[in-house]
Amino acid sequence: MAERPTGDLQDRHFRLESGPIPEPGPGQFLIRSLYLSVAPVMRMYMIDGAGIEKPLEVGDTLLGRGVGEVVASRHPDYPVGEIVHGKLGWQEYCLCDGSPWFMLYKVRQRVAPVSTALGVLGITGFTAYLGLTQIGGLRAGDRVLVSGAAGGVGSNCGWISRNLGATAVGIAGTREKCALLTGKLGYEAAINYREESLEARIGELCPQGVDLIFDNVGGAVLDAALAHLNRHGRVVLCGRISQYFAGEQARYALQNWWRIGKQRARMQGFFIYDLAEHFAEAEAAMAGWIGEGRMNWQEDILEGIEQMPRALIRLFEGGNVGKQLVSVGAR
Ligand SMILES: NC(=O)c1ccc[n+]([C@@H]2O[C@H](COP(=O)([O-])OP(=O)(O)OC[C@H]3O[C@@H](n4cnc5c(N)ncnc54)[C@H](OP(=O)(O)O)[C@@H]3O)[C@@H](O)[C@H]2O)c1
Repeated sequence: MAERPTGDLQDRHFRLESGPIPEPGPGQFLIRSLYLSVAPVMRMYMIDGAGIEKPLEVGDTLLGRGVGEVVASRHPDYPVGEIVHGKLGWQEYCLCDGSPWFMLYKVRQRVAPVSTALGVLGITGFTAYLGLTQIGGLRAGDRVLVSGAAGGVGSNCGWISRNLGATAVGIAGTREKCALLTGKLGYEAAINYREESLEARIGELCPQGVDLIFDNVGGAVLDAALAHLNRHGRVVLCGRISQYFAGEQARYALQNWWRIGKQRARMQGFFIYDLAEHFAEAEAAMAGWIGEGRMNWQEDILEGIEQMPRALIRLFEGGNVGKQLVSVGAR
């Protein structure tokens, strides 16, 4: 981080630095990054730590997950050749001691490419699966409405809903994304919130109402969804990308919050790492569906570590289609 951002992210907030590749000491191992994950929360790491991490200082390496290969090791549990995903940071090599801070997981599945350890078969996919099931109480027959549906998390919600007997309608910002939702990503229908009248279209596509709202966006999109919430409906607050940097004055004031009470509904937020005990279950379910040809996924991969700032900036411009990754050392 070259400068702490205040408003929009710019290239000048980042600086690429080179240095010697570290050598592992006793109990350490060296991971060579293959793919690095890019997520909206990283902008908050630069500002205040998002209440999750210690705020970054100027000169620090950006935080984030990656998947990589152990290339040198003096740690018995992480031999050379092991593939892991964890908090590798924005760097090509990560010196690691396997301590809990790194949140390391070994990649065991062989049904999908290694990059999916950061997407559908990683924390991003678990957020979709566990947000829908554990927080949203997804049931067969539910009508599910997902905002940010063509993003990293949202792009998994269509197949998860379908495979558990529900049907999902996705909301996204371009025609291309909407076509992808219904053509590839398991959604029954899609709404382009930039070109269509959102509330009217939700009514047309969900004439019996919405049982489960999975919201990545907040603001006016959430408000329109709430207008169609059914009795005993469930609202999962996964993210609020439209509101992260709105500032107190500009923050959107919900009009339809009262429907939570009227509909005897429930609205709940969550933090995915609080559900870590269920990660194995989420991975097994989705790897199983992928193996059976019942789940697809979408990744948006830029090439080269110098693309990391651009990859982060484009999340806030709607530039990414599916899970945003950067390939830094994949063969
Ligand atoms: N609760 C948790 O533990 C947890 C875990 C992971 C992620 N999250 C949150 O979940 C959300 C999705 O994460 P992700 O990594 O998958 O990101 P993502 O959905 O890939 O985020 C980028 C997308 O957000 C949409 N977007 C950007 N600005 C917007 C705006 N002002 N209004 C409406 N949509 C906007 C854009 O899609 P369109 O073109 O469709 O606008 C863009 O492509 C984020 O808010 C993230 O912080 C929460």
